[in-house]
Amino acid sequence: MQDLPNKFLITSALPYANGALHLGHFAGAYLPGDIYVRFLRSLGKDVVWVCGSDEHGASITIRAKKEGISPKEIIDKYHELNKASFEKLGMSFDMYHRTSEQLHHETAQEFFLNMVEKGGEFEVKESEQYYDEDFDQFLADRYIKGTCPKCSHDAAYGDQCESCGTDLSPTELINPVSTLSEKKPSLRKTKHWFFNLDKHSEWLKEFINEGKLDGKQHHDPKKWKKHVKGQCLSWLDDLRPRAITRDLSWGIPVPLPDAEGKVFYVWFDAPIGYISATKQWAKDNNKDWESYWKNEDSQLVHFIGKDNIVFHCIVFPAMLKAHGDYNLPVNVPANQFLNFEGEKFSKSRNWGIEIHQYLEDFATFANKEDALRYALIRNMPENKDSDFKWDEFVEFHDNELVANLGNFINRVVVLTNKYYDGVVPTPSGDTQAVMADLNKLLQEYCEEILNFNFRSAVLKLMEISSLGNTYLQDVSPWSIYKTEPDSQAVKDCINNCLQIVQILSALAEPFLPFSAKKINGFLQSDVVTIEQVLAHMEQGTSALAAGHQIGKPELLFAKINDPKDTTRMDLIEREKGKLLKIIEEALPKKQLIKEEITFDDFTKMDIRTVKILTAKKVEKADKLLELTVDLGIEKRTVVSGIAQHYKPEDLIGKEVLLLANLAPRKIRGVESKGMILMAENDKGELCLVSPTKPFGTGWTVR
Ligand code: 2FM
Ligand code: ZN
Repeated sequence: MQDLPNKFLITSALPYANGALHLGHFAGAYLPGDIYVRFLRSLGKDVVWVCGSDEHGASITIRAKKEGISPKEIIDKYHELNKASFEKLGMSFDMYHRTSEQLHHETAQEFFLNMVEKGGEFEVKESEQYYDEDFDQFLADRYIKGTCPKCSHDAAYGDQCESCGTDLSPTELINPVSTLSEKKPSLRKTKHWFFNLDKHSEWLKEFINEGKLDGKQHHDPKKWKKHVKGQCLSWLDDLRPRAITRDLSWGIPVPLPDAEGKVFYVWFDAPIGYISATKQWAKDNNKDWESYWKNEDSQLVHFIGKDNIVFHCIVFPAMLKAHGDYNLPVNVPANQFLNFEGEKFSKSRNWGIEIHQYLEDFATFANKEDALRYALIRNMPENKDSDFKWDEFVEFHDNELVANLGNFINRVVVLTNKYYDGVVPTPSGDTQAVMADLNKLLQEYCEEILNFNFRSAVLKLMEISSLGNTYLQDVSPWSIYKTEPDSQAVKDCINNCLQIVQILSALAEPFLPFSAKKINGFLQSDVVTIEQVLAHMEQGTSALAAGHQIGKPELLFAKINDPKDTTRMDLIEREKGKLLKIIEEALPKKQLIKEEITFDDFTKMDIRTVKILTAKKVEKADKLLELTVDLGIEKRTVVSGIAQHYKPEDLIGKEVLLLANLAPRKIRGVESKGMILMAENDKGELCLVSPTKPFGTGWTVR
């Protein structure tokens, strides 16, 4: 296994405390962090894993303003909710802190002042910024919405377009609107502190590309995920000073005499939250926080989602380097996004499932925590976006957790009780091929975790369980036992299987901690760590001693798709039903198909391709346009009710369809000969229907 230091400081992105976390958040930055730290702890490493609520920022203030409550009420509610959800799913944070804590405010201010003292890190610039006259305040980037200049998404924020991911500045938005007053904001002058990121560009390039820092090898750049490096590189060519202050009343005051009314931009103080959280942990546990952040032999790793890459790979490292006393991350294994049943999670559409909701809906579901963890790990968006599907949740659960892992463990515990009254039989001491195979898989399992390939690692765990199942089946101790109950071959087989079960409990712990605990319960054994498993494999010793009394069998997972007991499948169907309802409700209310007609009825209509030659508004009629159209054999005047959907000048030259033999009608004094065909949606919007390629005029439609 690769060489590892003894100390680790692991962080997971501090979630904003303005909403409940959903499965996508969980699979992005928290579950992978938990797997990694549980693994390292099981190897005997000295690990501190910190997280907490990110409680500043415009999104929290917007929400508070809109709901007419204080930001504090919001953060208190969601801090507690998210913290509890994490705990229930087994997140083993050493500290879940809050950025509203005094300790954090002091830490961030101190960090900033230290950077100021270094000189050259900041410059104060006056600039024009959007201001909401009605609300009498400058608008932070998130308070402004408008059309994205890159993809034309009409609800892009002033700092980022969530549709195409482009980072924006508010003045780049087309048709900016204040989200507070819903009015067009004005531009006013204000001053801000800008962090001179551009000045850090050279060493950052070397850091990201080659893994070098101050001329020394800092980390192996090949171990960084491709998509993480890719995003960094696209930034590195164009680093510019970034404003790190805001004109807001909610946040950490900038501790300088000429900075009244200014607070830090949330992304300046949030990552410093990792440091404050470590300080709080050290205070509570009588430990020294600095060695985790500053010792050369301590490794810093950030778990985040891909939307946080630039802050963790570029901005925060630059802050740490500018400060000078801190370690920089050896890796930032960001995940991509998890979608939900084919679409993005969406709070407004109610699309997706929040963690607390899952826990409530599945309250009666046996081992619901690990069932969810497993489904999310199997489909973790490690290198590309992935999709959570209820059908796959059932498949992973029934075909892998039940049929493979649960089945093997159950068979072994049942047989041990049946043949030996639950006492671990004494083996003959012959080394068995199955253990050599297991050792190979064990090494691969460790490597995969250390390389942040958790999907592959959990499959190694399942391969070990399959290995056990196959071995048990190959030996078939039940057929030998029938005639030879004292057979040494049966004892060897059961002993080996029990060792595998004990090893499985250790290897399952990072992924399935609730199950690992249960397996240990079945075995009535002390917890065995991965460090101990590795030592046993190397020395050929047993993880579970002969003569040890194990417990009675119990089910680890209960099959979902079970015709004899549909309670679990009913829960899944209920979730799928909720989604169907959302889909159905969103469907446009289509008109029912009209009464049947014959082909002759259809051929009575003479529909032609025509070209619009002129178009003008019909006086005193908002909806009408008067058009002249060319039929090839003649030109005609047609009045059409499309004035609210098309400008006259946009219509000239368009090829459209005309019902040419409709009886002429006088509309507002103009004789209209025929009718232009249009599609109409449920909002009453009209759209002209045209040939899909230039087709010429006067041709019949049939
Ligand atoms: O994207 C988010 O949810 C941010 N609150 C993450 C902050 S991570 C860190 F820097 F604290
Ligand atoms: Zn966009």
